[in-house]
Amino acid sequence: MPVSIKSPREIELMTEAGRILALVHEELGKALRPGMTTLDIDKLGEEIIRSYGCIPSFLGYNGYPASICVSLNDEVVHGIPNAGRIIHEGDVVSLDAGVIYKGYHSDAARTHIVGEGTKEAKDLVRVTEESFFEGIKYAREGNHLGEISAAIGNYARARGYGVVRDLCGHGIGTNLHEAPEITNFDTGRKGLRLKAGMTLAIEPMINAGTWQVRWLDDEWTVVTKDGRLSAHYENTVLITGGEPKLLTLR
Ligand code: MF3
Ligand code: CO
Repeated sequence: MPVSIKSPREIELMTEAGRILALVHEELGKALRPGMTTLDIDKLGEEIIRSYGCIPSFLGYNGYPASICVSLNDEVVHGIPNAGRIIHEGDVVSLDAGVIYKGYHSDAARTHIVGEGTKEAKDLVRVTEESFFEGIKYAREGNHLGEISAAIGNYARARGYGVVRDLCGHGIGTNLHEAPEITNFDTGRKGLRLKAGMTLAIEPMINAGTWQVRWLDDEWTVVTKDGRLSAHYENTVLITGGEPKLLTLR
């Protein structure tokens, strides 16, 4: 599949989809507290998304049964909300959400620590975010995708973290997942040449220990093989003639 270049009108719509998703994440982050269940987060998230006139893009996607992916502690991504799963003080909670606004998608993830977390948790969440920002330093027209991937992966690896290899970021637009695939590590390839009008969901998934992951029997939830913590940070990014625009960040 070719990588789509969005027209000015499409960029307007993606900008609005991104702006709304930033607000959804802000509201969810404020609501998060011990004693809530992961299903409470999902229900609240769906309500907020619909209150902005958007559709939750994850709901029903390849059979995914919820609007928000809620992944706790050793869960990397795609945790399925559950009424029996209670959030506790100190938990590392990754929230991943996507919305559709007038046919255009945005996708973003945040990792929160509930209350006072351990130093291990705080460092992991910080380095995961930093690795994203390291990557987007290279998100400029004329650069190559491989530069973003290598910058993310090398930043986290140099600090002793495990960089997940089994999942990656992606192009985004009228579909949640479009070309290209965006790995979070150096594949040794230059990759695609970036052009203004490309929209990319860049999403490092970083582990405190090993990079290796496995899937639970629910066929969605990805967990670390060693049971240690994982964090996820994602924004939908627009490539321009100058600085990239972070559509899902205010
Ligand atoms: N942000 C994730 C991704 O891009 C979540 C989508 S998976 C879904 O893969 F099935 F839950 F939608
Ligand atoms: Co994504």
